[in-house]
Amino acid sequence: MPTYITHSTHETRAIGKDLAKILQGGDILILKGPLGAGKTAFTKGIAEGLGITKEVTSPTFTIMSVYEVPGHDTIKEFVHVDTYRVESYEELLEIGFDEYLGKQDTITIIEWPEKVEKLLENRKLVVITFAAGTTTERTITIEKD
Ligand SMILES: Nc1ncnc2c1ncn2[C@@H]1O[C@H](COP(=O)(O)OP(=O)(O)OP(=O)(O)O)[C@@H](O)[C@H]1O
Ligand SMILES: [Mg+2]
Repeated sequence: MPTYITHSTHETRAIGKDLAKILQGGDILILKGPLGAGKTAFTKGIAEGLGITKEVTSPTFTIMSVYEVPGHDTIKEFVHVDTYRVESYEELLEIGFDEYLGKQDTITIIEWPEKVEKLLENRKLVVITFAAGTTTERTITIEKD
Protein backbone atom coordinates (compact mmCIF):
# COMPACT_ATOMS: atom_id res chain seq x y z
CA MET A 1 0.00 0.00 0.00
CA PRO A 2 1.69 3.20 -1.06
CA THR A 3 2.37 5.93 1.46
CA TYR A 4 3.43 9.41 0.45
CA ILE A 5 4.75 12.32 2.43
CA THR A 6 3.99 15.77 1.02
CA HIS A 7 5.19 19.22 2.05
CA SER A 8 2.77 21.54 0.26
CA THR A 9 -0.77 21.77 -1.06
CA HIS A 10 0.67 21.49 -4.54
CA GLU A 11 2.39 18.19 -3.75
CA THR A 12 -0.77 16.74 -2.21
CA ARG A 13 -2.71 17.82 -5.26
CA ALA A 14 -0.14 16.16 -7.53
CA ILE A 15 -0.64 12.80 -5.77
CA GLY A 16 -4.38 13.10 -6.46
CA LYS A 17 -3.71 13.98 -10.07
CA ASP A 18 -1.53 10.88 -10.49
CA LEU A 19 -4.10 8.62 -8.87
CA ALA A 20 -6.76 9.88 -11.29
CA LYS A 21 -4.91 8.15 -14.13
CA ILE A 22 -5.61 4.69 -12.75
CA LEU A 23 -9.19 5.22 -11.61
CA GLN A 24 -12.02 3.34 -13.25
CA GLY A 25 -15.70 4.11 -13.54
CA GLY A 26 -17.58 2.95 -10.45
CA ASP A 27 -14.64 3.56 -8.12
CA ILE A 28 -15.54 4.88 -4.67
CA LEU A 29 -12.83 6.75 -2.78
CA ILE A 30 -13.10 7.62 0.88
CA LEU A 31 -10.88 10.29 2.43
CA LYS A 32 -10.17 9.98 6.12
CA GLY A 33 -8.29 12.39 8.32
CA PRO A 34 -8.72 15.49 10.47
CA LEU A 35 -9.79 19.03 9.54
CA GLY A 36 -7.28 20.69 7.26
CA ALA A 37 -5.43 17.48 6.51
CA GLY A 38 -5.58 18.01 2.75
CA LYS A 39 -8.63 15.98 1.67
CA THR A 40 -10.04 18.75 -0.50
CA ALA A 41 -6.62 19.61 -1.92
CA PHE A 42 -6.23 15.97 -2.95
CA THR A 43 -9.73 15.97 -4.48
CA LYS A 44 -8.84 19.01 -6.58
CA GLY A 45 -5.88 17.04 -7.92
CA ILE A 46 -8.07 14.10 -8.88
CA ALA A 47 -10.48 16.44 -10.66
CA GLU A 48 -7.57 18.00 -12.54
CA GLY A 49 -6.27 14.55 -13.47
CA LEU A 50 -9.69 13.63 -14.84
CA GLY A 51 -9.60 16.72 -17.04
CA ILE A 52 -12.19 18.75 -15.15
CA THR A 53 -11.48 22.43 -15.73
CA LYS A 54 -14.24 23.78 -13.52
CA GLU A 55 -12.92 24.81 -10.13
CA VAL A 56 -13.61 22.23 -7.44
CA THR A 57 -14.64 23.80 -4.16
CA SER A 58 -15.46 22.12 -0.88
CA PRO A 59 -19.17 21.14 -0.77
CA THR A 60 -19.31 21.68 2.97
CA PHE A 61 -22.72 23.36 2.81
CA THR A 62 -24.13 21.84 -0.36
CA ILE A 63 -22.87 18.38 0.74
CA MET A 64 -22.56 17.04 -2.81
CA SER A 65 -21.14 18.43 -6.07
CA VAL A 66 -21.46 16.67 -9.40
CA TYR A 67 -18.95 17.51 -12.13
CA GLU A 68 -19.06 16.45 -15.74
CA VAL A 69 -15.90 14.68 -16.90
CA PRO A 70 -15.22 15.87 -20.44
CA GLY A 71 -13.53 13.76 -23.09
CA HIS A 72 -13.12 10.57 -21.09
CA ASP A 73 -14.07 7.20 -22.58
CA THR A 74 -15.55 5.49 -19.57
CA ILE A 75 -15.86 8.11 -16.82
CA LYS A 76 -18.60 10.68 -17.34
CA GLU A 77 -19.15 12.13 -13.88
CA PHE A 78 -17.17 12.98 -10.77
CA VAL A 79 -19.10 13.28 -7.52
CA HIS A 80 -17.55 15.00 -4.51
CA VAL A 81 -19.23 14.66 -1.13
CA ASP A 82 -18.33 16.29 2.17
CA THR A 83 -20.43 14.96 5.02
CA TYR A 84 -18.93 17.22 7.68
CA ARG A 85 -22.28 18.91 8.32
CA VAL A 86 -24.37 15.80 7.77
CA GLU A 87 -26.06 14.26 10.80
CA SER A 88 -27.31 11.06 9.24
CA TYR A 89 -26.71 9.08 6.07
CA GLU A 90 -30.38 9.61 5.25
CA GLU A 91 -29.62 13.21 4.31
CA LEU A 92 -27.46 11.86 1.50
CA LEU A 93 -30.26 9.62 0.29
CA GLU A 94 -32.55 12.66 0.21
CA ILE A 95 -30.25 14.44 -2.22
CA GLY A 96 -29.99 11.41 -4.48
CA PHE A 97 -26.47 10.34 -3.61
CA ASP A 98 -27.20 6.62 -3.94
CA GLU A 99 -27.94 7.10 -7.65
CA TYR A 100 -24.28 7.92 -8.14
CA LEU A 101 -22.59 5.58 -5.68
CA GLY A 102 -20.80 2.84 -7.60
CA LYS A 103 -22.43 3.87 -10.91
CA GLN A 104 -20.37 2.50 -13.76
CA ASP A 105 -19.47 5.81 -15.38
CA THR A 106 -18.98 7.73 -12.15
CA ILE A 107 -16.13 8.32 -9.70
CA THR A 108 -17.29 9.13 -6.20
CA ILE A 109 -15.14 10.70 -3.52
CA ILE A 110 -16.29 11.17 0.07
CA GLU A 111 -14.72 13.37 2.75
CA TRP A 112 -15.69 12.31 6.29
CA PRO A 113 -16.98 8.84 5.27
CA GLU A 114 -17.41 7.81 8.92
CA LYS A 115 -20.71 9.70 8.92
CA VAL A 116 -22.21 7.57 6.17
CA GLU A 117 -20.65 4.18 6.88
CA LYS A 118 -23.99 2.51 6.50
CA LEU A 119 -24.16 3.47 2.82
CA LEU A 120 -20.69 2.08 2.21
CA GLU A 121 -21.19 -1.37 3.71
CA ASN A 122 -20.21 -4.18 1.34
CA ARG A 123 -18.75 -1.74 -1.17
CA LYS A 124 -15.30 -2.01 -2.64
CA LEU A 125 -13.49 1.13 -1.55
CA VAL A 126 -10.26 2.96 -2.14
CA VAL A 127 -9.34 4.17 1.33
CA ILE A 128 -7.12 7.23 1.51
CA THR A 129 -5.93 8.29 4.92
CA PHE A 130 -4.40 11.68 5.69
CA ALA A 131 -2.34 12.50 8.74
CA ALA A 132 -0.93 15.92 9.50
CA GLY A 133 2.60 16.18 10.84
CA THR A 134 4.40 19.48 11.17
CA THR A 135 2.69 22.58 9.71
CA THR A 136 3.08 21.51 6.11
CA GLU A 137 3.86 17.82 6.33
CA ARG A 138 1.09 15.38 5.40
CA THR A 139 1.23 11.60 5.23
CA ILE A 140 -1.12 10.07 2.67
CA THR A 141 -1.79 6.34 2.54
CA ILE A 142 -3.73 4.73 -0.29
CA GLU A 143 -5.28 1.29 0.20
CA LYS A 144 -7.48 -0.62 -2.20
CA ASP A 145 -9.88 -3.32 -0.89
N1 LIG B 1 1.30 19.12 2.46
C1 LIG B 1 0.08 19.71 2.43
N2 LIG B 1 -0.93 19.14 1.74
C2 LIG B 1 -2.16 19.69 1.73
N3 LIG B 1 -2.51 20.82 2.38
C3 LIG B 1 -1.54 21.43 3.08
C4 LIG B 1 -0.22 20.92 3.14
N4 LIG B 1 0.53 21.74 3.92
C5 LIG B 1 -0.29 22.71 4.33
N5 LIG B 1 -1.53 22.55 3.85
C6 LIG B 1 -2.68 23.40 4.17
O1 LIG B 1 -3.64 22.59 4.84
C7 LIG B 1 -4.95 22.93 4.44
C8 LIG B 1 -5.62 21.75 3.76
O2 LIG B 1 -6.92 22.12 3.47
P1 LIG B 1 -8.00 21.15 2.86
O3 LIG B 1 -9.22 21.97 2.68
O4 LIG B 1 -7.47 20.42 1.69
O5 LIG B 1 -8.21 20.12 4.08
P2 LIG B 1 -9.42 19.12 4.33
O6 LIG B 1 -8.81 17.86 4.83
O7 LIG B 1 -10.27 19.04 3.12
O8 LIG B 1 -10.21 19.82 5.53
P3 LIG B 1 -11.76 19.70 5.93
O9 LIG B 1 -11.86 18.53 6.84
O10 LIG B 1 -12.00 21.00 6.64
O11 LIG B 1 -12.56 19.56 4.68
C9 LIG B 1 -4.82 24.14 3.51
O12 LIG B 1 -4.95 25.29 4.27
C10 LIG B 1 -3.40 23.97 2.97
O13 LIG B 1 -2.82 25.20 2.59
MG1 LIG C 1 -12.29 19.36 2.82
